[in-house]
Amino acid sequence: MSLPPDFLWGVATSAYQIEGAVDEDGRSESIWDTFCRVPGAVAGGETGDVACDHYHRWREDIGLMKQLGVDAYRFSLAWPRVVPGGDGEVSAPGLAFYDRLTDALLEEGITPFPTLYHWDLPQVLQDRGGWPARETAEHFAAYAAAVAERLGDRVQHWATLNEPLCSAWIGHLEGKMAPGLTDITAAVRASYHLHLGHGLAVQAIRAAVPDAQVGIVNNLTHCEPATDREADVAAARRADGHVNRWWMDPLHGRGYPADMRELYGVELPEKPGDLETIAAPLDWLGLNYYFRSLVTDEPGGPLPRARQVLLPGARRTAMDWEVHAEGLTETLLRMTDDYGARCLYVTENGSAYPDVVGPGGQIDDPERTRYLEEHLAACTNAVNRGAPLAGYFAWSLLDNFEWAYGYDKRFGLVHVDYASQRRTMKGSG
Ligand code: IFM
Repeated sequence: MSLPPDFLWGVATSAYQIEGAVDEDGRSESIWDTFCRVPGAVAGGETGDVACDHYHRWREDIGLMKQLGVDAYRFSLAWPRVVPGGDGEVSAPGLAFYDRLTDALLEEGITPFPTLYHWDLPQVLQDRGGWPARETAEHFAAYAAAVAERLGDRVQHWATLNEPLCSAWIGHLEGKMAPGLTDITAAVRASYHLHLGHGLAVQAIRAAVPDAQVGIVNNLTHCEPATDREADVAAARRADGHVNRWWMDPLHGRGYPADMRELYGVELPEKPGDLETIAAPLDWLGLNYYFRSLVTDEPGGPLPRARQVLLPGARRTAMDWEVHAEGLTETLLRMTDDYGARCLYVTENGSAYPDVVGPGGQIDDPERTRYLEEHLAACTNAVNRGAPLAGYFAWSLLDNFEWAYGYDKRFGLVHVDYASQRRTMKGSG
């Protein structure tokens, strides 16, 4: 491999997916606590109430990171733990948890890579309008400032948002994630205020931590037409606008793509100066990559009127996602060539497979190992072709709560037996 010598190897998780302890130390409810209680919203009616009990087992989990030999750990902070009221007072015990975690990571020589928002909006803010409301962006910046002031003497790398696409499109348009809305106006407004919240948080973090390295994490998908039919080519362009350009262009000072604005038909809640705030220069860009999207035209279908298809015989994971490592190379190169990225991280990449615990308690998962090897080779290819890739975080350290899929889909390098909370390193780990 020809990756840079100081390449950072890491693992990633997020708060709601692993912490549990949802009503401890003053944590308030998040929109995911609410969503999990909606009948039929989550497979098997499962919740993040206990998850991997990481809130109590974090020392053991740092031990697993040591065993894996990682350089860095990407985790998220739970806003409802840190600011239970959504805005205003900071919870001392809530923030203390992340303070202890940070210290313990550093003691073990593991670089902390916190993400401030991985989908767990305080429910109190949802009740006041959620992301479709401008105030949420302002409250997010205040929460970011509080965290940066506390951890900024030890933490240099910061991510504002994780996959705002999922918050806006899946949460407000498809209704398959919290808060479970199906309304394009709410979705477009949410996307805009997520971006604005990001830009305001960048300012807040830089004010608190002068040497901060601030970035954002987008899930980007390599979209290709399934055939060379003109309609499919146009559908692939729409799909690309929906999942890539809408999320990248405003961050790079290009505003929101005109073709997509026309397709959505929703007026942006724009105020003077917002687009400059949103386009604050980034120190790094995080890319979560899982699959390629092959698309066909679907007139009359849901936005963006393009349907994802799987070719017969395509390799796929337990999520039904196509395994296509070349798409990662292409996406890294696009970030480099089209968007001029100066520093990239693969902030998530991984796969779910139906793991089987062997007779000796071991978990042999050659498909996951192969997936990782192919995607690491794809990273190397991108580096060889000029992508400024500085690190790679495997998703995920642990099997965990996979949102609307519950606990059935396992992405971990470490297996979790949820009944006993026993952790077992998988072969891929
Ligand atoms: O588990 C999620 C994570 O929360 C965000 N990125 C994709 C992962 C796998 O679906």
